Amino acid sequence: MKDKFYITTPIYYANASPHIGHAYTTIKADVLTRWKKSLGKEVFFSVGMDEHGLKIQDKALEIGKEPQQLVDEVSSEFKKLWEDLDIDYTGFVRTTDAKHKEAVRKVLTFFYDKGAIYKGVYKGLYCVGCEQFIAKSQLIDGKCPDHGKVPEIFEEENYLLAMKALQPELVKKIESDELQITPSKRKNEVLSFLKQELQDISISRPKEKVSWGIALPFDEGHVSYVWFDAFLNYLTVFGWDGDNEKIPEFFPPDAQFVGKDILRVHSTIWPAILLHLGLFLPKEIYAHGLILSGGKKMSKTLGNVVDPKKLIDEYGKDAVRYYLMRHTPSFEDGEISYERFREVYNADLANGLGNLTSRILKMSESYLDEPIEPQLGDLDSKYKEYMENYEFNKAMDFIWEKIGALDLKIQETQPFKLIKTDEKQAKKIVTELVKGLFSTAQRLEPFMPATAERIKQAITANKMPEPLFLRKN
Ligand code: MSP
Repeated sequence: MKDKFYITTPIYYANASPHIGHAYTTIKADVLTRWKKSLGKEVFFSVGMDEHGLKIQDKALEIGKEPQQLVDEVSSEFKKLWEDLDIDYTGFVRTTDAKHKEAVRKVLTFFYDKGAIYKGVYKGLYCVGCEQFIAKSQLIDGKCPDHGKVPEIFEEENYLLAMKALQPELVKKIESDELQITPSKRKNEVLSFLKQELQDISISRPKEKVSWGIALPFDEGHVSYVWFDAFLNYLTVFGWDGDNEKIPEFFPPDAQFVGKDILRVHSTIWPAILLHLGLFLPKEIYAHGLILSGGKKMSKTLGNVVDPKKLIDEYGKDAVRYYLMRHTPSFEDGEISYERFREVYNADLANGLGNLTSRILKMSESYLDEPIEPQLGDLDSKYKEYMENYEFNKAMDFIWEKIGALDLKIQETQPFKLIKTDEKQAKKIVTELVKGLFSTAQRLEPFMPATAERIKQAITANKMPEPLFLRKN
């Protein structure tokens, strides 16, 4: 039986079209999925949409649509993008699915009955952009630093989730890496937050304030807090019905991908829900940095939003996957702009990989009588280490070093000249080059699956392919 491995991405808010940041998290998780599959694991890779809450309710109102219509449209856009980017997901969950809502209500009832949810008064500040409570100390000029908006003052009678009592257990599990947080810098941030007093949090809003959500089964005048509803997606993606005695066999997750902006909720509220349910915690949460444009977080007002659809149309899906995985650091913030994208595309793909593939296959088609039969080689330990540690940019650098070495070999040995004087030696060199190209394609597979496939097919057919990447001006 194959080893099971469960990978998740966050579920995205269905209030607006996907942008490059969403594509970033999803492509990273897809690279890991493909890598784990290549090692023979049975992978479940979940993606989905977060479709309730004030943010969506407000947006629907603003554009004069029913919330359900809005989330239906946005969800199809995301789904289409994942298909256009070759995202090899197993399950796509939506929090407006009837089964998901039923499971959330079952969990709410279970928690209420056991006293993990109780009625109380919650006071605080709330940022609708984050759909999160925000501490006064986090504000800059009285505004949320991420959304630039003044938070709502919040004092309501609603339902709270007991978190305080779980603090020591949570700290212990994170400190000991039973729940591993990667990179360690983020683990330390979470721990220092957790070591302050952990508050019970509000998990409901009165219906007159937020109506677009799942009504609490024990008080229909309130709807569930959107994050409480959202976290359960990691279970309902399997069709789970809310019964904690019947847990999906892939659970708990082996690797959860999140941006650093949502790490704190993932390492507090989410594990708290699991502890109350009596379930195992995820094995690892990996937090990546954000993608900035012109040094700033992307926003419509700043006009620096990079649209993944536009890039795919112009450069192709693998170029987008390439840029995001190679030209952004693994753990810190990265940068993207249309201009930089074009430069990198021309240098590394059109002139680099694309040109090398054409040169090698042109020689092989002309000089070799039949296709060579390359074997799947052993992957280098360095490359493997990078893949296992989510250092995808380093794994890609490693591949491009090999590409550089193949280029150099052509330059130094000049088989296209040698063929006139020493045919045997020239053929031997070309065979080595084809083998080198084949192992490059093998290493590229998790990152650029379609390109890797085209290279392999061209090698098998011993035919120079159409250019893989056309130069752009
Ligand atoms: N709905 C919640 C997640 C619930 S999971 C139980 C949410 N959605 S989101 O659409 O705002 O963002 C989801 C993911 O996209 C996060 O991992 C976030 O970090 C990522 N990104 C959003 N903008 C980003 C960038 N500009 N750069 C990189 N990733 C960013 O939060």
